[in-house]
Amino acid sequence: MAGMSGSTASAAPASRRLEGKVAIITGGASGIGACTAKLFVVHGAKVIIADVQDDLGLSLCKEIASENISYVHCDVTNDSDVKNLVDIAISKYEKLDIMYSNAGITGQHKMSILEAENDDFKKIIDVNLYGGFLCAKYAARTMVPAKKGVILFTSSNSSVTSGIGSHAYVASKSGIVGLAKNLCVDLGLHGIRVNCISPFFVATPMLTKHFGFINTLNFGKIMLNKLYNSVSVLKGSVLEAEDVAETALYLASDESRIISGQNIVIDGGYSVTNLIFTNKIKGLMSYYKL
Ligand SMILES: NC(=O)c1ccc[n+]([C@@H]2O[C@H](COP(=O)([O-])OP(=O)(O)OC[C@H]3O[C@@H](n4cnc5c(N)ncnc54)[C@H](O)[C@@H]3O)[C@@H](O)[C@H]2O)c1
Repeated sequence: MAGMSGSTASAAPASRRLEGKVAIITGGASGIGACTAKLFVVHGAKVIIADVQDDLGLSLCKEIASENISYVHCDVTNDSDVKNLVDIAISKYEKLDIMYSNAGITGQHKMSILEAENDDFKKIIDVNLYGGFLCAKYAARTMVPAKKGVILFTSSNSSVTSGIGSHAYVASKSGIVGLAKNLCVDLGLHGIRVNCISPFFVATPMLTKHFGFINTLNFGKIMLNKLYNSVSVLKGSVLEAEDVAETALYLASDESRIISGQNIVIDGGYSVTNLIFTNKIKGLMSYYKL
């Protein structure tokens, strides 16, 4: 991704890992989805970004400045919008190789069930889980006859580390992992691979807004990256949208042709440990000079 900003830089033909493939990326107007769209185009894919932020989606297409990128308005919670999205891909390119269901919302920042609001819970499940279901359903209808295809979902490392998101968000992201695993069995019969990508936190517009850094993306990014550094297990690097995009590229490409049913966690090892005990012991030893 180095140097890949503004209009589309191009990879050398031999290293174009998605040459000729057709991809849909939902939530593609912003953050992780936008970054992945850029990378997929660089690697030779024809990409349709789908989102509800029309101005942002259209301006991203302008920025990428390639005939291989286009924008379609699609609310992933709306059955006919998702059907229409897949229909457009088929009428435009006659196939769909990759469905990356990435659109998502965090909802309210309320961690206690005592504060959780029913409507917020339903809305998050609607976008993050039901939206993923609709994307998989309409993608499968075209991939099954073709006997090939890749379906990806953006879950979250909250699917494997409890207590770091609202109940609604964690339920939706855990649900997506379950859906992906079940789809892996169902669609594996037809040569279709299904995987999840589960990032730790990335300073995208979604997260900066969620933590109240409204309209100050750069300040929010600095603060979130500081926070990331302070809690990360793998020191010396901060998770960026590009890291998620690179993982999506791998899972979408033929290089991962036997990988299915996996939840790839991108968190530098955060979810495999719990350092509270170790840090308490270190604190006590230093206090008592042991
Ligand atoms: N940023 C993080 O720290 C982080 C961590 C783990 C997982 N994720 C997940 O990554 C995905 C992308 O998030 P992001 O961080 O890039 O945020 P983002 O807000 O930059 O992008 C999300 C996009 O989804 C779109 N969207 C929301 N509701 C939609 C709907 N109903 N239909 C279509 N599009 C809709 C938004 O308009 C937006 O463009 C989400 O699923 C999110 O839950 C993010």
